[in-house]
Amino acid sequence: MCGIVGYVGSKEVVPVILEGLRRLEYRGYDSAGIAVGTEGQATLSVRRAPGKLRNIEQVLRDHPLHGTYGIGHTRWATHGRPTEENAHPHRDCTGRIVVVHNGIVENYLELKRELTAQGHVFVTETDTEIIAHLIEQIQKESSLQKESSAHSETAGAPSFDRSVGQGWVPTIPLEAAVRQAVKRLTGAFALGVLSSLEPDKIIAARFGPPVVLGIGEGEYFVASDVPGILHHTRNIVFLNDGEMAILTLGGVQITDFEGKSLPVKPQRILWDPIQAEKGGYKHFMLKEIWEQPRAIRDTTLGRISLDSGQVFLAEMGLKPEDLAQATSINIAACGTSWHAALAGKYIIERLARLPVEVDYASEYRYRGPIADPNALGLLITQSGETADTLAAQREMIALGSKTVAICNVVGAMITRDASGTIYTHAGPEIGVASTKAFTSQITALFLFALHLAQVRGQLTTAESMALVEELSRIPTKIEEMLKRISAQCEELARSFSHARDFLYLGRGIHFPIALEGALKLKEISYIHAEGYPAGEMKHGPNALIDETLPVVVLATQDHTDSGSRLRYEKTLSNVQEVTARSGRVIAIAVEGQEDIAQLVEHVISIPKAPELLLPLLEIVPLQLLAYHIAVRRGCDVDQPRNLAKSVTVE
Ligand code: F6R
Repeated sequence: MCGIVGYVGSKEVVPVILEGLRRLEYRGYDSAGIAVGTEGQATLSVRRAPGKLRNIEQVLRDHPLHGTYGIGHTRWATHGRPTEENAHPHRDCTGRIVVVHNGIVENYLELKRELTAQGHVFVTETDTEIIAHLIEQIQKESSLQKESSAHSETAGAPSFDRSVGQGWVPTIPLEAAVRQAVKRLTGAFALGVLSSLEPDKIIAARFGPPVVLGIGEGEYFVASDVPGILHHTRNIVFLNDGEMAILTLGGVQITDFEGKSLPVKPQRILWDPIQAEKGGYKHFMLKEIWEQPRAIRDTTLGRISLDSGQVFLAEMGLKPEDLAQATSINIAACGTSWHAALAGKYIIERLARLPVEVDYASEYRYRGPIADPNALGLLITQSGETADTLAAQREMIALGSKTVAICNVVGAMITRDASGTIYTHAGPEIGVASTKAFTSQITALFLFALHLAQVRGQLTTAESMALVEELSRIPTKIEEMLKRISAQCEELARSFSHARDFLYLGRGIHFPIALEGALKLKEISYIHAEGYPAGEMKHGPNALIDETLPVVVLATQDHTDSGSRLRYEKTLSNVQEVTARSGRVIAIAVEGQEDIAQLVEHVISIPKAPELLLPLLEIVPLQLLAYHIAVRRGCDVDQPRNLAKSVTVE
């Protein structure tokens, strides 16, 4: 949700910033803008454009900018429409200070009233603009205070130059003014601030949304996420909440909001910047679908023993007795991560025999959850930044629970207050529609459930070994399946891309997969789609069925599992109810399941697997189907309208 890239060095800044913004465009694409400092100019030059990055690129071709320091922003609109005026960077009254911002200033109306009364003129509908004026006001007040004390001491000669800008010159440096300003803000912010009076300097501050710094050779970078700067340096500093950074040609300094100096500790990022490139695929989403075998493998790597069946998750930061004494698990997550959570409930309850509650993170606080210090909180979030999930975590902690995060981004916000984090090693996910993060989350949940079951004595060694081995086979099965079903999914997309609505049905652990399949389709193709528990159809939704309605049914089964067989038989009856009413069924079934093939128009077959691992396989055709339908409809697959990758507002 909004991407920031800043640079101080000796290179031409515009290409550096544009390249960085391109890699962060997944964070928002409602508008973009850039501010560049040019030597000898009293103000910073700003260019902005509504819409995607290509629009600002065109503006910059028509009206080029040159300089060696600057800051850029790509926006996901919260306050104010996605117009040019509301595009960042925003300026103060003098035009000397510019600000880019990711987050929300909750008290902006109150501050706006105060600053308006002090004579500031606002030209945008955004909350961000108040930050520029607030910094201006703080610098102005410091200057006037100095002027009046200088007057009283020396009766005359003020100690500042009246010839610049609006008749005053700051007497405190930009970082001091930003420090005072951030203390007045409530809400969440990642900020980048520049002043034309202090060339070659960027101030960055973090309270909530992420800020990373890049340490190069005589050049320094700031960004919202590592891919924005990884092409220039692998030495990355993750700014913590409540910290500020001052980037100059002399290096990087970090302080807290009180001004106390803090050590600068770069971490070497080992993943390849190519992981954040399309690598020959038409879209990031398609690349990320194909990366799932690797992502699942990496998420399992070093955490399982095929010899003993044991699962190692020391990174959870919990003692075995915490797990042994746990009375229940509360999971909170949003969107796709919530679907993973729901699948996780089936896995944990089945393997560890512990009750699991799953909440939409955005709803958790509002249902008045009951305090139980022995209930373990589990937060699932790809980005680790989702505001609702962070709020649910705070609530769980306030209720006395320990929390564990399942997260894909190292050092993300959610990991800060968690007892520990099970990282999914999916690598950067750029497509806004989540794919490999989802399957990695289910993998992590499977590991978590196995570990919990082992600690609680719910699995024999032989059972553990069998499950761990089956898990380790999943990546190869997906590889094989991808090769086999890709063309079929593309072909099916041709037949179904004009549908107005879709239904996705599943029972048991396959119901969350139906929900996820429907979400994928609606978010990237804009076709209305609903996921439904197959057995609920007769209680209402059957009325929707006619010959125009495609119904995707998860009709897989694990022949070795009696519960799975029973579920399958019931699902088969539901399929018959649909076909009897002329609904067009696309069934996802395991290889060799002949009975379903005789019943329905289309079958996509997936490899056999144990019931609890089938979701990892059956989501793949649903992702491909959604992808190809969206492509056929000419939709912007990687950057669907009105969405952003990480949602840092509640
Ligand atoms: C959909 C999607 C979203 C996210 C949701 C939570 O494809 O990606 O529904 O799953 O916004 O995001 P995280 O997992 O970052 O908390």
